[in-house]
Amino acid sequence: MTAPRTLFTLNGETVAHDGPPGRRLSAALRENFGCLDVKEGCNAGDCGACTVLIDGAAVCACMVPAGRLGGHSVDTLSGLNNSDSLLSDLQRAFLHYGAAQCGICTPGMLVCALALLRTTPHPGEAQVRDALGGVLCRCTGYRKIVRAVMEATGFSAVAPQAAAGAAVGAGVVRIDGGPKVDGSERFGDDVAPPGCLALKIIRSPHHHAGFEFGDVAGFIASRPELERVLTAADIPGRNCFGVIAPFADQPVFAERLARYRGEAVAAVVGEHAAIEALGDDDFPVNWTPLTAHLTPPEAEGPGAHLLHEGRPGNLLTSGLVERGDVDDALAVADQVIERGVETSFVEHAYIEPEAGFARRVGERLEIHACTQAPHMDRDSVAEIMGLEAGQVRIVPTAAGGGFGSKLDISLQPFIALAAWVTGKPVRLAYSRRDSMASTTKRHPAAMTLRIGANRDGRLTGLDFAGTFNTGAYASWGPTVANRVPVHASGPYFVPHYRARSRAIHTHCTPSGAFRGFGVPQAAIAQETAFDELADRLGIDRLEFRLINALTDDTPTVTGQVFGSGVGIKACLEALRPHWQKARKSAANANLNGNGSRHGVGLAAGWYGCGNTSLPNPSTIRCGIRADGTVVLHQGAVDIGQGANTVVAQIFADALGVPLSILRLVGPDTDLTPDAGKTSASRQTYVSGNAARLAGEALRAKILRLGNASPAAVITCGNGELVLTEAGGERRHIDLSGLAVEPGDYVLSAEATYDPPTQPLDAKGQGIPYAVFGFAAQMVELAVDVALGTVKLKRFTAAHDVGRAINPVLVEGQVEGGIAQGLGMALMEEFIPGRSENLHDYLIPTIGDVPEIQTLIIEVRDKHGPYGAKGLGEHVLVPTAPAILNAIRDATGAVITRVPATPDRVRAAIVAAQVKAAP
Ligand code: FES
Ligand code: FES
Repeated sequence: MTAPRTLFTLNGETVAHDGPPGRRLSAALRENFGCLDVKEGCNAGDCGACTVLIDGAAVCACMVPAGRLGGHSVDTLSGLNNSDSLLSDLQRAFLHYGAAQCGICTPGMLVCALALLRTTPHPGEAQVRDALGGVLCRCTGYRKIVRAVMEATGFSAVAPQAAAGAAVGAGVVRIDGGPKVDGSERFGDDVAPPGCLALKIIRSPHHHAGFEFGDVAGFIASRPELERVLTAADIPGRNCFGVIAPFADQPVFAERLARYRGEAVAAVVGEHAAIEALGDDDFPVNWTPLTAHLTPPEAEGPGAHLLHEGRPGNLLTSGLVERGDVDDALAVADQVIERGVETSFVEHAYIEPEAGFARRVGERLEIHACTQAPHMDRDSVAEIMGLEAGQVRIVPTAAGGGFGSKLDISLQPFIALAAWVTGKPVRLAYSRRDSMASTTKRHPAAMTLRIGANRDGRLTGLDFAGTFNTGAYASWGPTVANRVPVHASGPYFVPHYRARSRAIHTHCTPSGAFRGFGVPQAAIAQETAFDELADRLGIDRLEFRLINALTDDTPTVTGQVFGSGVGIKACLEALRPHWQKARKSAANANLNGNGSRHGVGLAAGWYGCGNTSLPNPSTIRCGIRADGTVVLHQGAVDIGQGANTVVAQIFADALGVPLSILRLVGPDTDLTPDAGKTSASRQTYVSGNAARLAGEALRAKILRLGNASPAAVITCGNGELVLTEAGGERRHIDLSGLAVEPGDYVLSAEATYDPPTQPLDAKGQGIPYAVFGFAAQMVELAVDVALGTVKLKRFTAAHDVGRAINPVLVEGQVEGGIAQGLGMALMEEFIPGRSENLHDYLIPTIGDVPEIQTLIIEVRDKHGPYGAKGLGEHVLVPTAPAILNAIRDATGAVITRVPATPDRVRAAIVAAQVKAAP
């Protein structure tokens, strides 16, 4: 029976939907009508990424059956482009304010905002929040979106341009911004060629289970539209991967035993419609559920199942940093605080679930997918497939957020294997549930610490112990275990110190990298204890931090002395006037006694940029073509944070040409050298330095060729270079007369930068990172004492970035990080098997993020390009402890487990009241 035809208007033209009437409009728009600007983040009405206009009203297309559209009119962003001047204003405002980062939410956000602006040209903030409340953004923290929408109507500001030599420090519009606001950016699920095969992964429904396959041959034989079933037996290379080679332990397909709910055991490849129609229970597999250990105490307990041979006690690894004699120091301290804090699994919740496609090209494999680490992906896939690394090409698509989880391979081996064995292109887009059930999370931590100080406020010692639930496989667990002890002191001078960490396997989704690698968890324990210690000593909480803040000359807990560039005091000093004013304001507000208590909280943080004491190089290549085009091979993946723009700004100034003339290539493992992974706040610092060196090398070549002075100005174009000296003398280099090098360049350069670090010794002493960034944040809030709900009012965030290469992007990182930090503090808790969607797992909406004032502090770093430090992780390290400190300031409640949900806040308030009772 043929499906009834539904006629409707799409972007001004009449179209016919002939598919099943119940098909989601979002799917029909994307798959049948090519509207790839309509994004799918959840297919459940939770994220708003699929928002379109139906008869002018903003609607989630995933919740509308295409068969119901008869006679209606649908507009998507791509159809409205260039035909709606209000939208053009809005797009300009988005670009100007940096309101699009990764860009995956942007089409839905713009369409929704357009519907508001058509009826309310000059909306207030509350109106913007109401209108956009259904569209989630995980990157921006919404503040720039609110501002862009409020100011959109008639927006005419000219985008700032940077002249030659003036790109660094300029808040230029991101150079890859255009496609993000016109809907033409292509993410993982937007790039597959038509007619691709599809793939469904069969996953364990149990946390821990043995399994056997049933009649797989019969299953395939009865379904001619299916091509293949893939299992571990089909893997030509090694059925194992991991981001840290000595710890690699994760199978592509589990063999006989599933160690976490969501683990892949098989995959089915076939035609798209047939794969879509396959139910979870259709595949023949028999499960034998086994006892699951979901917490470290269970996994370490007597008789616990061992998840991996050779890891007794389910201990993956441990870390230690020790300096002086902490027990003695605490014994003689005037005051000692002792406390324990627990944190939860946190889901990355990028709006783009993992997606991509793979194809076989002769004896090579090509994978087009979202990723943060193309060269690592290439090496992993090659090993799994039994190929040479050069036989695998990774072409990253735009990434709709990453935050650490897209450092690990996810769908890549499945589509690679399927494409290889079928010889046909194969695509896969994880459902939200796939993504949440199977990809890495922030480590839950159970931490205890003791901190001592003398009457004068000086710290004497700090003793930290943290146990991290690392889930079923190693992923980045070793990195967390090593990074936490280095950072658990906070940015303070602690003369006697001991920090121990342990990563314990459980039958949970693997924990991995998530903005901060365990440091945000440790900061919660340390910074909340600092407030209690300051209070016991009768010292203002800000002053207490200033007394103990690291300086250029004091050693860190690993014995590192920076000599220059330590900006934590500058961050704290910048907050001082805001702190004093906010404290007064909260005290006044509390005089009203209307059921809410007002409080102010403060916390600081630091973060070492790049790998911990390991090589961490980035390589950048550049060249000039015979026609004068300047090309930058920029392989540092931009997941929204702005690497494309920042690295290009640095390169442009080093070469001495305007940013606007650069043409970017990459990332692509065939075309761009390895710029390392986008993680650990390393791209501005490490890849930025490689870009600076490459730019300087190319400039030196040009000046030599033209026999020009170092001060000469380089002009490129029309087949020549013109070198103009300060006195006006000009030299012309005819590029057509130069030999063409490989890559089609007549002049080229390549440079590598590797941070100067040193290994840590057995007690964790050494130089783990060449560069640290510093931060201090303050939050003002009110707590409803009866309900335990928290209303955030304002953040003031001081961040030492060394040199703000692009201040607009710096603000965007700070605001986005704070939004994630407040989610971690107040609402986000992933529970394996129970919160695998975005309505049970809540992330901050536009209504949850209050005003944020960013104070950019620039204490130059001697290693950073033009003095710049990394920023990506620092931005959320102080947020959660600042919030918990403010809750305690308001109510006396000591929160010992995050998220501080209303029930936990209310219980802590009651406990504080009981304790305070006479
Ligand atoms: S995809 Fe429609 S609301 Fe998320
Ligand atoms: S810019 Fe909004 S989700 Fe990335």
